[in-house]
Amino acid sequence: STCGLIDSFGRRVTYLRLSVTDRCDLRCVYCMSEDMTFRSRRDILSLDELARLARLFIARGIDKLRITGGEPLVRPGILGLFEELSQPLRDGSLRELTLTTNGTQLARFADDLARTGVRRINVSLDTLDPERFRMLTRGGSLAKVLEGIAAARAAGLAVKLNAVALKDGTEGEIDELVAFAHDRSMTLSLIETMPLGDVGIDRLDQYLPLDALRRRIEERWTLIDVPMRSGGPARYARVAETGGLIGFITPHTHNFCADCNRVRITASGTLHTCLGQDDATDLRTLLRTGGTDDDLVRIIDVALGRKPKGHDFVLSRGAATQIARKMSETGG
Ligand code: GTP
Ligand code: 5AD
Ligand code: SF4
Repeated sequence: STCGLIDSFGRRVTYLRLSVTDRCDLRCVYCMSEDMTFRSRRDILSLDELARLARLFIARGIDKLRITGGEPLVRPGILGLFEELSQPLRDGSLRELTLTTNGTQLARFADDLARTGVRRINVSLDTLDPERFRMLTRGGSLAKVLEGIAAARAAGLAVKLNAVALKDGTEGEIDELVAFAHDRSMTLSLIETMPLGDVGIDRLDQYLPLDALRRRIEERWTLIDVPMRSGGPARYARVAETGGLIGFITPHTHNFCADCNRVRITASGTLHTCLGQDDATDLRTLLRTGGTDDDLVRIIDVALGRKPKGHDFVLSRGAATQIARKMSETGG
């Protein structure tokens, strides 16, 4: 059908998050456990399989495509996928091609990404303190990420920073994060931690509700709510003193599921219609057993009909992790 993807609650799905690898060069404490193991190569979709799925979803009305991971830029040959997808971008069937990255490889990739038609990117950055960065990522180099961000800006890419709000320090450096982002014309998005996968730490020990962080921000800055939505889950406020934006992604304190417009595909070809539910549809088997485009569209449409009304994340002391699937597998 040509009417696009609409779920059983009448929500139009126009945003696909496509994960290209579950691997990452970092080990963020809210994302992975220390002894993280990764999927074997044969489980992971080839670049051709990824491109085929992307094109199929674009044909079904997806007009915003975000490449995710793990860390998408550690996938060998990833630029080829961006080059392939620059075609629907040129012919107008795709409105936006973008990615979420940890930034460590950006110095190398920024120019090429801009050349394929990427205009803005989201970069994860939780801290500006090199020592805290090393601790939060279990060994990562902040300097490399800052260099990557500078390269992206120099290549003309708009950059949004993603910072996961954490109890052990975000409040203490939030003013610096706001100033750093806004001095460089970047939006800063703040995110409440979500309980996906076992990371070996009680989530409640990390969790900082954004209501509290917002009050802390307002001790120093004047926030003016703006009605604008980016097509993502964030609600935005403008900082009067800087003119820049802060995004608030609040799965716990202000659920945004009623406006949900997206689905995600893991690097191993599983379609998840909700980040915070177990609902899963295997697309890989059909891809690898000669399924036609029509066959694939049929199971995608069935999956959309089952898209849950919303997530039901629970953060409580000692609670078993709600969703066993890891963040690095789902791509956030
Ligand atoms: P924009 O297009 O710039 O608005 O980006 P985005 O917020 O959609 O994407 P990004 O990859 O930067 O994700 C930021 C945070 O939002 C991550 O922590 C994601 O896990 C989270 N997020 C994205 N979509 C959803 C969703 O449907 N549900 C929940 N609970 N979180 C989401
Ligand atoms: N909760 C919230 N956000 C998370 N991210 C990774 N793990 C979690 C989690 N458990 C963020 C990353 C990245 C984005 C895709 O998701 O920092 O910016
Ligand atoms: Fe890697 Fe992103 Fe997970 Fe950090 S949050 S370990 S950068 S995939």
